[in-house]
Amino acid sequence: MIESNKVKKILYGGDYNPEQWPEETWEEDMRLFKLAHIDEVTLNVFSWAALQPDENTYDFSKLDKIMELARKNNLKVCLATSTAAHPAWMARKHPDILRTEYNGVKRKFGSRHNSCPNSPTYRKYSVALAEKIAERYKDYDNIVAWHISNEYGGFCYCDNCEKAFRKWLKEKYGTIDELNRAWNMSFWGHTLYDFEDVVVPDLRSEEFLWDGVIRTNFQGISLDYCRFNSDSMLECFRLEYDAVKKYTPDIPVTTNLMGVYKILDYQKWAKYMDFVSWDNYPAYDSVPEQASMAHDLMRGIKQGKPFALMEQTPSVSNWHIYCKLKRPGVMRLWSYQAMAHGADTLLFFQMRRSIGACEKYHGAVIDHVGTENTRVFRELTALGEELVKIGDKTLGARTKSKVAIVFDWDNWWAAEYSAGPSKLIDYYKEVFQYYKALNDSNISVDLVSVTDDYTDYKLVIAPLLYMCKDGFDEKIRQFVKNGGSFLTTYFSGYVEDHDLVVTGGYPGRLKDILGIWVEESDALPETESNSFVYKGKNYSAGILCDLLHLQGAEGLSFYENDFYEGMPVLTRNQFGKGTAYYVATHSEEAFYKKFLGDICEEIGIEAVAKTPEGVEGTMRENEKGSFLFLLNHKDGPASVVLEKDGIDLLTEKTYKAGDRITLEKTGVAIIFTEK
Ligand code: GLA
Ligand code: ZN
Repeated sequence: MIESNKVKKILYGGDYNPEQWPEETWEEDMRLFKLAHIDEVTLNVFSWAALQPDENTYDFSKLDKIMELARKNNLKVCLATSTAAHPAWMARKHPDILRTEYNGVKRKFGSRHNSCPNSPTYRKYSVALAEKIAERYKDYDNIVAWHISNEYGGFCYCDNCEKAFRKWLKEKYGTIDELNRAWNMSFWGHTLYDFEDVVVPDLRSEEFLWDGVIRTNFQGISLDYCRFNSDSMLECFRLEYDAVKKYTPDIPVTTNLMGVYKILDYQKWAKYMDFVSWDNYPAYDSVPEQASMAHDLMRGIKQGKPFALMEQTPSVSNWHIYCKLKRPGVMRLWSYQAMAHGADTLLFFQMRRSIGACEKYHGAVIDHVGTENTRVFRELTALGEELVKIGDKTLGARTKSKVAIVFDWDNWWAAEYSAGPSKLIDYYKEVFQYYKALNDSNISVDLVSVTDDYTDYKLVIAPLLYMCKDGFDEKIRQFVKNGGSFLTTYFSGYVEDHDLVVTGGYPGRLKDILGIWVEESDALPETESNSFVYKGKNYSAGILCDLLHLQGAEGLSFYENDFYEGMPVLTRNQFGKGTAYYVATHSEEAFYKKFLGDICEEIGIEAVAKTPEGVEGTMRENEKGSFLFLLNHKDGPASVVLEKDGIDLLTEKTYKAGDRITLEKTGVAIIFTEK
């Protein structure tokens, strides 16, 4: 929708389920939407049961009315295909549609996101429904996007999936010998004789739960199953994509992603989506940088293109362990935070609070009380007004970053399946440490894939690059040779694409670039740590401490304790025109801020603004000019000295370079500087 020429402002609205309400309520909804400046509704997300009451009957009568209602009221529509929860009759008649869980239990009808992605029944009927909907509503010129299914996710381990997995493997590996090699099946005499011997890796076969963590005997199998499972759901998405495109080639298609979500390789998915959209539900105890990173990841998977915030709650969720209210001003602050990181659309779940089942206490634009006289409604209305004022100014604006952090789903899966060296290995947390240090310094970061182009970056950081895929080392070698700075960490470079160790010393293919050899690694329990001094300050070393030798690099800091006292923990290697850094352990927040700050300073990477702690600054630019977003996450007011002249789009006050702008608690400014 964001690239559609039908949209001249930040769309504002969200999931609307009028089918759950009598028609008398609909007119009242329209009145309330107008009051709150709502101009978009996401329709038909969970209506399969009503649209197709049996094998051969389709009934669009209610959806017809709802579509008319939206059109009459000048609402843009994001139209969903309704395929995220199958109807009861389908489960009864075609049990192949039901998923099988990790423990081998076949599910019954119930819940949602419940269809086996490899079920022929699911594929046939989901595509048929998507096609029928597209055919029927293709002439509605207020449809701004297709919303395929809803939050794809989870795993299935059923017989359909097993069969499809064998096929997928055959296409990938060709012969059983090659498969045996890739999975190292001579270990424990697991050699397979035929693709028919392949079984899904779950609790019945190669996986097990150990201290609450999923472990596998064969990383190669489990890793391929993750890839396959993600691909299976992607195929379902693509089948529906093609079905709707047949009738509406110009309407952009999306599905709502879930940010930092391990199960699906969103970098691969984004290639097949016209634009990215995602659902942001920070937990009661999450820090603002977590949302920032998720937004940046969602922007990054589509190479920086603006994304849509498809869902957020106006006030509370119902499914967190504590459904804490968003404090006054926080819904607005977090909406602008999404914009600050690349959102061009701000939508909510949900428009009217339902009366039954598990989301009846989920926040909504219209609460159970049913009127506009609520705190939440007033805040929504005020934000709606502001978005009208902002108009199309920020649309299409891009973020220009000189720092990239590599985020790679294969690495995430592989590093955490690795079976040792430590249960504390946490891919997301390690990446987040680096991200947070930069974000807290208002240094703009792109989260990139291993295949993205790095030529515009000065610094590429690849935390826990456990798997260094074929060709990636060469890409980094050239990047550094040509003057780039590269940083990687402990537990990097160990394996190739199939999780087979690269022999000849760690970090494998990266050794020459980093100028080091890691001989051993010491996994420390949570209660233990080592330490090191960097620029006069002492910092902790934990989780994993590499014992490494310099082979061309220089040591910047050294362990202070234990039998490896004096061995390097931070190294720097001049390589061609560039520099490669190695951080041999996991340290603490203050260290990352200092170390990354020093590297950025040395190579001339600047913050977009200097702000007090807790005030986030980001910059977006389009053909009209630049937009400096200032977001006050602090528990009190704050002020920032502006470096450029500009006008605050929210207050319409003009500022000169050197002026101080004050932000109330939860306050936001968007300083626009014309080109
Ligand atoms: C998800 C779903 C919605 C709704 C919300 C509730 O994001 O997509 O249908 O269940 O969660 O938070
Ligand atoms: Zn299945």
